[in-house]
Amino acid sequence: ELGPYDHYMQKEIHEQPRATADTLEGVIDAGVVPALFGSDAATVFAEVDSVLILASGTSYYAGLVGRQWLESLAGIPCNVELGHEYRYRDSIPNPRQLVVTISQSGETLDTMEALKRAKALGHAHTLSICNVQESALPRASRLVFYTRAGAEIGVASTKAFTTQLCALFILALTLAKQRGRLAADAEAGHLEALRQLPGSVQHALNLEPQIKVWAEQFADKDHALFLGRGLHYPIALEGALKLKEISYIHAEAYPAGELKHGPLALVDDKMPVVVIAPNDSLLEKVKSNMQEVRARGGQLYVFADLDSHFSATDAVHVIRTPRHAGLLSPIIHAIPVQLLAYHAALRKGTDVDKPRNLAKSVTVE
Ligand code: F6R
Repeated sequence: ELGPYDHYMQKEIHEQPRATADTLEGVIDAGVVPALFGSDAATVFAEVDSVLILASGTSYYAGLVGRQWLESLAGIPCNVELGHEYRYRDSIPNPRQLVVTISQSGETLDTMEALKRAKALGHAHTLSICNVQESALPRASRLVFYTRAGAEIGVASTKAFTTQLCALFILALTLAKQRGRLAADAEAGHLEALRQLPGSVQHALNLEPQIKVWAEQFADKDHALFLGRGLHYPIALEGALKLKEISYIHAEAYPAGELKHGPLALVDDKMPVVVIAPNDSLLEKVKSNMQEVRARGGQLYVFADLDSHFSATDAVHVIRTPRHAGLLSPIIHAIPVQLLAYHAALRKGTDVDKPRNLAKSVTVE
């Protein structure tokens, strides 16, 4: 079943060109239409004035990227909350809010209980973005979008994450169109970018030999810091989560602008700092944050794209992802941080597919 691979996680990382292509098939064939989310999606979408995303772990990080797309493309206000926090606090329900749960398994208790709580508070507009057909979350939701990642067996989520991002991008385009914010030429441009996405994912996978070299340098570290800004801050979070989950290296992620508000105190010449730095509108800001790290001797490991300009010197290791992918760039940058964690774990000899203390599907509180 593993074919040429040593672990499910490795296989699942490498399945991402196919998984993203399958998940995008509907929108590429039919264009941006509400029916992608279920037969009464047009009615529901016409009634909503905001979005609340509920999820846990990696799926929550997908939600953090989704919020930025929903607000910038569709102009719709969006909040993202961890299910286990939402369910126990007093929130202000808005019956016109679309409650979106995101889950690979569809069985995560924290997310399920959050959905029940939302419904008890009067929320009727519910959408499940889920990878497992007919699981609890889609059954409890009015609208459903199935990611088509295929079975994910490795405990650390990989292809589920990138396909969730595809689903959220399609949702943002759909709400944008419904709200009169997606001109025909813009729609065509986004669809073309989506068509090219699986190929760009493959290019990112081809960086594996270079990433392996970095991973060997990480394996004897006790700590690592991940930095990103804007759309790439959630990718820094995801990189840190993957590294700690499977290699047991303590890793933390910060939005790079937060450095001087505290975490900079951790930086010395033993601290590897991974920076997600593609050529987006925040690149210059990220570069000045990188200077702050270098000035303290921190070792910079930078994922840049072909359009961001850096000079590689001893303290700045740079790996270049493909040409800048615009709004889809976080999907591309998820790949190298997954590979970095995978190879660091291999090097450390941990049980990559079944990390200690963790379960694939968290059905208890
Ligand atoms: C991390 C990971 C977890 C899950 C989380 C939610 O690699 O796999 O953080 O993302 O437990 O699981 P789902 O998406 O099944 O609700």
